[in-house]
Amino acid sequence: MRIIAISGSPRSGNCERLVKEAAEGARSEGAEVEIFLLRNLKFAGCCGRDQCYHDGICLVKDEVTPVLKKIQKCDGLIIASPNYFNNVSGLMKNFMDRTNPYCKDKKWKGKKAAIMVVGGATKRSAIRCSRTINDFLWIHGIELVGSRSFLAEGPRDAEQNKDYLKKARLLGKNLAMAKN
Ligand SMILES: Cc1cc2nc3c(=O)[nH]c(=O)nc-3n(C[C@H](O)[C@H](O)[C@H](O)COP(=O)(O)O)c2cc1C
Repeated sequence: MRIIAISGSPRSGNCERLVKEAAEGARSEGAEVEIFLLRNLKFAGCCGRDQCYHDGICLVKDEVTPVLKKIQKCDGLIIASPNYFNNVSGLMKNFMDRTNPYCKDKKWKGKKAAIMVVGGATKRSAIRCSRTINDFLWIHGIELVGSRSFLAEGPRDAEQNKDYLKKARLLGKNLAMAKN
């Protein structure tokens, strides 16, 4: 199984650590995993012309372009976002908007995904953030295999929580084991 893992945090913190752990879990089941940290990619948001929905061609060419092409060829996705104002980070939202060319005819249908959300307040406040990612998957016809939300504020909180690391690893394993 080929998996693309994406962290939507602008800092080197919890999402990043949990994505790496989930990737290790997936690799332990034989999956090939490539990780993309959105904070390291120079990319723009959607230009808004929406022609891409019909012709499948994104007019914006930047460092997200090859990532989208890789997703087209992968079997599974790991998506992690920090909870910002009860939603995904701006980086993650900009990334999601750039996937509009793949929506029509559900070009990503049949892929599977695992999602993680990290927030500093309550787990309850992460519900809408998870919902945004769920809706994104649903629009693309991607099947949700597992979802976790983590309570963490400081950038090293997840790193120091063995239970969180175990849960992230299991999520990755489960995704890799989810065969068609
Ligand atoms: C702009 C901003 C908005 C935030 N909004 C929320 C929020 O609405 N709910 C919440 O639980 N945490 C919120 N947080 C806290 C982050 O979700 C938390 O620090 C999380 O651990 C960040 O994940 P990261 O380490 O992967 O960046 C916010 C943080 C920032 C910087």
